[in-house]
Amino acid sequence: MHTLLRIDSSIRIQDSYSRRMGDYFVSQWTLKHSNGTILERDMARAMLPHLSQNTVNGFFDDSIFSEELSLSDELIEELYQSSEILITCPMYNYGIPSSLKAYFDLIVRTKKTFTADSGIKGLLHHKKAHIISVMGGVHSVPGGMNPLEIHVTSILNHLGITDISYFPLEGTAFPQDLSEKTKSVETLICKHLN
Ligand SMILES: Cc1cc2nc3c(=O)[nH]c(=O)nc-3n(C[C@H](O)[C@H](O)[C@H](O)COP(=O)(O)O)c2cc1C
Repeated sequence: MHTLLRIDSSIRIQDSYSRRMGDYFVSQWTLKHSNGTILERDMARAMLPHLSQNTVNGFFDDSIFSEELSLSDELIEELYQSSEILITCPMYNYGIPSSLKAYFDLIVRTKKTFTADSGIKGLLHHKKAHIISVMGGVHSVPGGMNPLEIHVTSILNHLGITDISYFPLEGTAFPQDLSEKTKSVETLICKHLN
């Protein structure tokens, strides 16, 4: 059974390129997995709390209970249920949205998603991830990853996820060749899923 967890983080609900590319990805994924399940987490519609000392204490002490820890448990359970993860990620001020960072801060959790007994070992095996990164300017070096891909890849690797595909859309601030660029990303998604 295929389950795709879609995580959106653009603050724009309308006219967002990352959401549009995410919609396209899901439409193609659904064609391939007609009986698949889609789970959704939208960081703009339901903001997650930032990490606090009490929450981190709870990561290491099972006797501590809090709403944030229950939320962390819920998010982690959702990850374990998913066979694939789609992350749509715009660039804000040279990095990932703080809302997406808040999500990562709640799911990167010792003994739950990784262990550090003898070096870091991720526990989320056999999952695929797809990163749609979108930015106004152009930030990647030719043949290399852009800063969003580097950051999100580091976190996914930490969790044991190494099967990652990349769909960057750079230069949304320049409308002249944007429709060509979005078509190229759609073609890339289509090829990847078929
Ligand atoms: C608060 C804010 C900060 C941004 N910072 C950057 C930036 O550092 N570099 C960049 O290339 N684009 C930056 N942008 C432009 C966005 O990355 C661009 O508009 C992108 O298309 C947003 O994704 P979306 O279309 O899915 O909403 C910024 C946009 C906003 C709203």
